[in-house]
Amino acid sequence: MTAPAGAPGGSGTVLMDDKPPNMEAGSDLAVDLAGVKLANPLMTASGTCGYATEYEDFVDLRQLGAFVTKSITLQPRLGNDYPRVVETRAGMLNSIGLANVGLEAFLAEKIPQLETLHLPVFVNVAGTRVEDYAAVAEALEKVPIVRGVELNISCPNVQEGGIQFGVDPVQVEKITSAIRRTCRKNILIVKLSPNVTDIAETAAAAVQGGADALSLINTFTAMAIDIENRRPILGNRTGGLSGPAIRPVAVHMVHRVYTKVAKAAGVPLVGMGGIQYARDAIEFLLAGATGLAIGTSLFVDPACLLETKQGISDYLARHGCKSVTDIIGALQVD
Ligand SMILES: Cc1cc2nc3c(=O)[nH]c(=O)nc-3n(C[C@H](O)[C@H](O)[C@H](O)COP(=O)(O)O)c2cc1C
Repeated sequence: MTAPAGAPGGSGTVLMDDKPPNMEAGSDLAVDLAGVKLANPLMTASGTCGYATEYEDFVDLRQLGAFVTKSITLQPRLGNDYPRVVETRAGMLNSIGLANVGLEAFLAEKIPQLETLHLPVFVNVAGTRVEDYAAVAEALEKVPIVRGVELNISCPNVQEGGIQFGVDPVQVEKITSAIRRTCRKNILIVKLSPNVTDIAETAAAAVQGGADALSLINTFTAMAIDIENRRPILGNRTGGLSGPAIRPVAVHMVHRVYTKVAKAAGVPLVGMGGIQYARDAIEFLLAGATGLAIGTSLFVDPACLLETKQGISDYLARHGCKSVTDIIGALQVD
């Protein structure tokens, strides 16, 4: 079944009539992300869970709503100079620089691994030229387990591409509409940068360009200094700040985008930024997020993904809610 573009919940994408793979009967956590049915809102944040197998000894990822891959580029990338990560108080800086195996090896080696999860997969796509993004998105149309492309136009850790596209509303609309044309089966999720004056402007540009969903936020450009040798710690000098330190800003940005842009446009949001516990996730749901991604907290405790899921269920029961959708955007502000 194909929903017409612009129809409520529709995006011109193929809707699955069957139940999501891990959805128990009567589940109160199911959500619809622009036509892709998820058993629950929880997913991995791009780049923090590799290609899934890295975590198989620590957490049963099949219990999630979806799996989001690290950024995939047309050609393999080695990434930035080391060191690439620094721990901060309540967070971390990373400057991985989009290290990945490249499209060809991803399709040949990683997709078969991801198929074993039996989850909808969203592939995060990055590049330095619009044509590169388009080539990767086009190839992903042929992969049944892939249900969406998450457009990374917000990476602060690469010299070309990355954040350049994501901070200028004109560029955001341009790249979104170019990739929109290649996404027929897959939904198009545009990942927004927080490194802007008003994230509602770039969100509106992505919606104008045809985004089916928005995800936010990526990391904040930041720096840590080794005071003894008076040099930046990261090989790339700067990195992206993530983790609990950024959560209140992320919650505010989700709420702003929801109220200014997404709610009226019927475009669902995937919220992320420092989620570690169920109460963090519930803040994002109340602020207007339909999906929830967890990244940095996985490095502290991978089980937080499933504890968060359970905690949301407990909250819904305690508040007499039948469905998680009852609390999406339910923040009272007056
Ligand atoms: C080590 C690391 C690698 C990341 N790699 C990517 C990436 O490849 N593509 C991307 O869009 N975001 C990447 N991110 C950003 C996360 O997906 C997420 O937007 C951000 O970290 C905020 O969520 P968190 O606070 O839960 O980590 C990365 C974050 C970290 C910490």
